[in-house]
Amino acid sequence: MFSIRMRSSLHGKHVSGAERICKGEDIGEMVRELLTRPKEYDHISLKIERVEVKEIEKALPIKTYTFERVEEAREFAIDMLEREGIKASILKKLFRELDTGASPEGGNMRGAMIVDMESGNRLEPDKRRGIRTVKVDWASRKFITDQLLEKGYTPRTVDALAIATKNIHCGVVAEVCWSDDPDYTTGYIASESLGYIRISPFKRKGSPYGGRIYFVKRGEKDRVITCLEKEAFLIKSL
Ligand code: COA
Ligand code: AMP
Repeated sequence: MFSIRMRSSLHGKHVSGAERICKGEDIGEMVRELLTRPKEYDHISLKIERVEVKEIEKALPIKTYTFERVEEAREFAIDMLEREGIKASILKKLFRELDTGASPEGGNMRGAMIVDMESGNRLEPDKRRGIRTVKVDWASRKFITDQLLEKGYTPRTVDALAIATKNIHCGVVAEVCWSDDPDYTTGYIASESLGYIRISPFKRKGSPYGGRIYFVKRGEKDRVITCLEKEAFLIKSL
């Protein structure tokens, strides 16, 4: 099978990215679909790479919690993540970094932070780039998308749930995510035992900052990064 990854930008700024895993005979159709996704761009790149695919039987189960204020939502997330063994002080420090741009110059990173869950130290080799989860898709994307939309979830959930499911499968102990889209304030936390918990509002409306934090056991960092970047997975069901 093949991993197809599309990435578009405008005036050097990231516009959108998307990926699919498909059979060789479906590459043309997938490429055409991916090319319709960015509304405006002056650069688009497509990567097509043969991959050996493994299967993940089930996606993380989804729950949604809605709050009046971001502060309450963050307290809830901290309570949940403390159950995974991550200290509140570490979470508060990293949330501040995501809120102000986790790249050393203060902008958004191009991928996720990798954090030692014990010490809170950032371990990603490049703090501007971070680590990107790639090579993941749904075995039956249309079927899963229809099911999720019918249940009232957004199209974003389709991709974010796939990424989080792969992350946890690869050995990320817990993940935190909120978007850098100023208009999209729903984020999530995920872990094997918590599942995929959508949290709204996880950030303030209008904020251009977002990102992902992947908490790992220090000794597992290299193995986890290899899995996130190199191993391909299709997720079979919800
Ligand atoms: N944000 C910002 N810049 C990005 C980017 C992103 N998400 N993805 C790619 N880029 C830029 C970077 O400058 C990158 O160079 P780098 O490797 O030095 O950081 C450059 O484009 C080339 O990226 P490329 O190697 O083509 O990307 P990739 O093979 O790692 O694939 C995507 C990454 C595009 C598939 C991935 O970023 C993506 O968008 N995945 C699907 C997204 C999704 O569903 N997200 C969840 C929605 S909630
Ligand atoms: P998004 O939900 O697409 O707005 O992405 C939020 C943040 O997650 C971005 O600012 C990046 O820092 C990070 N990110 C985006 N795509 C990926 C990916 N494929 N893997 C890991 N982190 C990502």
